[in-house]
Amino acid sequence: MEILRTVAELRAWSRLERNEGGNTTCLVPTMGALHAGHASLIRAAKNSVGFVAVSIFVNPTQFGPHEDFARYPRSFEADCALAEAEGADGGVAPSVEELYPAGAATFGEGAGLSERLDGQSRPGHFRGVATVVAKLLIAAEPDRALFGQKDAAQVAVLRRMVADLRLATEIVVCPIVREADGLALSSRNVYLSAEERAQALTLSRAIHGAEALFASGARRASRFIEAARETFAAEPEIRVDFIALVDWATLLPVEIAAPGSLFAVAAYVGSTRLIDNTILD
Ligand code: PAJ
Repeated sequence: MEILRTVAELRAWSRLERNEGGNTTCLVPTMGALHAGHASLIRAAKNSVGFVAVSIFVNPTQFGPHEDFARYPRSFEADCALAEAEGADGGVAPSVEELYPAGAATFGEGAGLSERLDGQSRPGHFRGVATVVAKLLIAAEPDRALFGQKDAAQVAVLRRMVADLRLATEIVVCPIVREADGLALSSRNVYLSAEERAQALTLSRAIHGAEALFASGARRASRFIEAARETFAAEPEIRVDFIALVDWATLLPVEIAAPGSLFAVAAYVGSTRLIDNTILD
């Protein structure tokens, strides 16, 4: 797997693959610490034929001042091995200075959307996400970029951005990969103690509860939110950040659940913030 360290290298590589190789190109943006969730995106990219580049970049602008940027897990060698084993053709690993040149002053915003759900509790987070993904998409000009439904609000912000900036990339969303007991895979799960790991199952329990309610015919938002509150109440060690039933495109609350509505939760287990969600259908 070739490692591309600069925007110029990524652009040249991508153009070569597309123009001379006649290949479809796919980009899988990640922050590394790759796990089976990331692997599923790389595999899906590979299965959709093209050439696949995986970016591994812990993006400083999407972390708040008191968040875990400094201690975010970094495992570059293992990440490259996993990406390659899943069929990635290129690894994109720029330095911070390469993506944010001295004096960098241009940022993506996603007005409104960026302040909803995770954006409300993590001010500036989606601004950082939109900025870095815009840089990567403009550099790589991929035919497709793959993202996980795990970060459903991020998907909404990025879909809006791609539509607004008229980028040619198609956004492909892949299902949430879970542990056997239901916990959604996350690079941040390594922060959890054994006790917290057990408590963390409350999130997927709340999600499955919402799915069961929808299947049983419930539609009022208050029913879903109340049921999830009760689920969390059984685990008082967890601090709920939000429980929300929203329209997946606008991230605005809906009163009545419909197929395609996003039910999402975020909670602190110890000091680790975890998220989970489901698209009701
Ligand atoms: P990161 O958290 O590394 O996630 C990279 C991609 O993997 C995202 O699209 C995320 O939704 C997906 N992913 C994570 N856990 C998953 C799971 N359990 N199942 C399926 N997919 C999963 O998301 C980011 O990085 C960053 O914000 C990024 C988009 C790279 C911008 O910096």
